Amino acid sequence: MNPSATISNISGLARKAQAAILPTRRDIRFDLPAEHIADWNKGSVHLSQFMNTLSIFFPVGERFFIDAVRQYRDRITDPELQKAVTAFIGQEAMHGREHEEYNELLFARVPEAAQVERFVFALLENLKKLPPRMRLSATIALEHFTAILANELLSEPRVLENAEPRFARLWRWHALEETEHKAVAFDVWDTVMGRGTGAYLERTGGLVLATVIFWSIAIPAYLAVIRREGRLTDLKGWRFFFQHSFTKVPFFPRLLRPYLDYFRRDFHPWDHDNRHFLDEIDSTLGELRPAA
Ligand SMILES: [Fe+2]
Ligand SMILES: [Fe+2]
Repeated sequence: MNPSATISNISGLARKAQAAILPTRRDIRFDLPAEHIADWNKGSVHLSQFMNTLSIFFPVGERFFIDAVRQYRDRITDPELQKAVTAFIGQEAMHGREHEEYNELLFARVPEAAQVERFVFALLENLKKLPPRMRLSATIALEHFTAILANELLSEPRVLENAEPRFARLWRWHALEETEHKAVAFDVWDTVMGRGTGAYLERTGGLVLATVIFWSIAIPAYLAVIRREGRLTDLKGWRFFFQHSFTKVPFFPRLLRPYLDYFRRDFHPWDHDNRHFLDEIDSTLGELRPAA
């Protein structure tokens, strides 16, 4: 079989799946309880602060994604993809706004977290000097990363089990919307870059670089937050965190395979077909009050 025919078939199927899933911008507020910022997940400071550390990256990161996709907006002629891009921008803007409020609670308690945000902001400002295609490559890499994290969060009930309900809803909302729009930036990339060898190398190189840069900031940031909490030598806390993340609930080991799928030549985000989670959106979000 002609390999390019296979790729275009898969891509066509994936586009069809995406056409059926048009993301929706939802204006929702969460009123997070400040007193639980450090222990909202199962009372574990290590677990809660790990997820809080991820939250530091969202507002600045998501603005970077919006700008990267926006630069290619006028190259999109497919009306469905145009609508999806508008919804993608709307969703990421709402995520940024809610995580900004979330992060304010964290920054008030842990000043180091605010320093990390300033560092990431400065880094991303520098990355804006790169050619637009490199910024889009970084965006689709990090969207892949958030999509597989979101899938794991939605598939494994133990991740948010016994979590403070408002924090749990915020994370579920973000995970559902990340799932809903997971292919939008990727389809923009496909449309403007195509499926040639150069595009493949730029796309996969983007994931390698984004992974290295992200964890080389996130791990020291997390340790700084835990140090500020005075929990660096709390062995019981660490044991719980590692059991939850690697063994008992093997959150991270389960990410490896879907992470590596990105290196398949014909990869498309909807190859991981988890559309069934989107059926939950209205029931999960229905109980949240709309923004005033
Ligand atoms: Fe987001
Ligand atoms: Fe996203």
